[in-house]
Amino acid sequence: MDRKLRIGIIGTGGIAGAHMTAYKQFADVEIVGGADIVPGKAKAFFEKWGVKAEAFDSPYDLIQNVAMDGVSVCTYNTTHAECAIAALEAGLHVQCEKPMSFTLQEAVDMVRASRKAGKILTIGFQPRYDTMRRKVDGIISSGALGKVYYIQSGGGRRRGIPGGTFVNSKQAGYGCLGDIGCYSIDQCLHAVAYPRPLTVSAVATDYFGKNPKYWPGAETFDVDDFSVAFVRMEGDVTFVFKQSWAMHADSLGDTLWLGTEGAIKICNGFDYANKPSKIMHFTDVNGQQVDSFVLPSRPFDPYGTPPQGDVFTAKVRDYCDAIIHSRPAPIPGEEIIMNQAICDGIYRSAKLKKEVEIEIPSFD
Ligand SMILES: NC(=O)c1ccc[n+]([C@@H]2O[C@H](COP(=O)([O-])OP(=O)(O)OC[C@H]3O[C@@H](n4cnc5c(N)ncnc54)[C@H](O)[C@@H]3O)[C@@H](O)[C@H]2O)c1
Repeated sequence: MDRKLRIGIIGTGGIAGAHMTAYKQFADVEIVGGADIVPGKAKAFFEKWGVKAEAFDSPYDLIQNVAMDGVSVCTYNTTHAECAIAALEAGLHVQCEKPMSFTLQEAVDMVRASRKAGKILTIGFQPRYDTMRRKVDGIISSGALGKVYYIQSGGGRRRGIPGGTFVNSKQAGYGCLGDIGCYSIDQCLHAVAYPRPLTVSAVATDYFGKNPKYWPGAETFDVDDFSVAFVRMEGDVTFVFKQSWAMHADSLGDTLWLGTEGAIKICNGFDYANKPSKIMHFTDVNGQQVDSFVLPSRPFDPYGTPPQGDVFTAKVRDYCDAIIHSRPAPIPGEEIIMNQAICDGIYRSAKLKKEVEIEIPSFD
């Protein structure tokens, strides 16, 4: 490309700042426009960042009036689909924040729009760029564990209910599930190439968000703060999902992949010092049970340009490089549909208080 990549930002709230921080580091990228439905918010955002870009109070005005290569969709969850589809239909590439959407149908519509336009649709799961996560993904996807037949998510927060639009169902759709649950699902299932989910039996609760003792906005809190699910997947793979924004415990346990030839365990999955969790690899060598640790090793820099450890910058850079070098979407919508299908299934099952089947509409 003999000019700078032209990017727009749709939704100029909290996470848009992280996108801006990343884009500003790239000499070959310029932010040319942005939009937010709160009047004046996009203009104030660019003023705060000292960026000369055209600001609009509607994403449609931005898309129609500014020449761009792609956008970052940084709106709250329930408007990801409408903004991403409008951009794709206008011939723009899209990096969409996580979760992909609110409903499964929205996710399918997004992928259809991306395929029809022949444009990138990538979803913002930056933990994929974490070096320890890459090591775990690499071991599991190498086949070293044999057939992986059981997966469970771990971690969870003791007191970690966020504020703002995260706790309002009209804006967020999901609560804890859409905020951090979708990360757990991606961590657990990307390494095993996302088997197709078949059924889900789930429970979601709001005991902490609805209690003023634990959350000051209890009166208006109307999303989940905890959910668990039993997911049957194709190939006889069982996935046990748990996630919490708040609980009276330090962790919901370990993240675990059990295979016929070995297992990986990420102990607790959360560390206050933000260090890599303890990761164990269990196997059997010559009839002996062998336990080993997966250790951080330095130097290890799979991406070159972004600073080690800045997974967000790595995510945004990968999106830019995919556009510039005509590569496929780094975290393709087609894959994350499986994640969204599970979120959608958990939401429906919890509401209905019974197991539900997951049917994924064709997106070809
Ligand atoms: N990847 C991460 O680490 C990370 C971290 C935080 C949030 N997120 C995700 O980013 C998204 C936004 O979160 P946030 O904390 O910035 O929320 P936010 O509420 O601070 O910002 C969202 C903004 O989008 C605007 N908006 C909503 N609908 C719009 C539309 N149709 N057109 C234009 N603007 C619109 C809102 O007015 C608001 O300013 C969420 O989906 C969230 O899950 C990701």
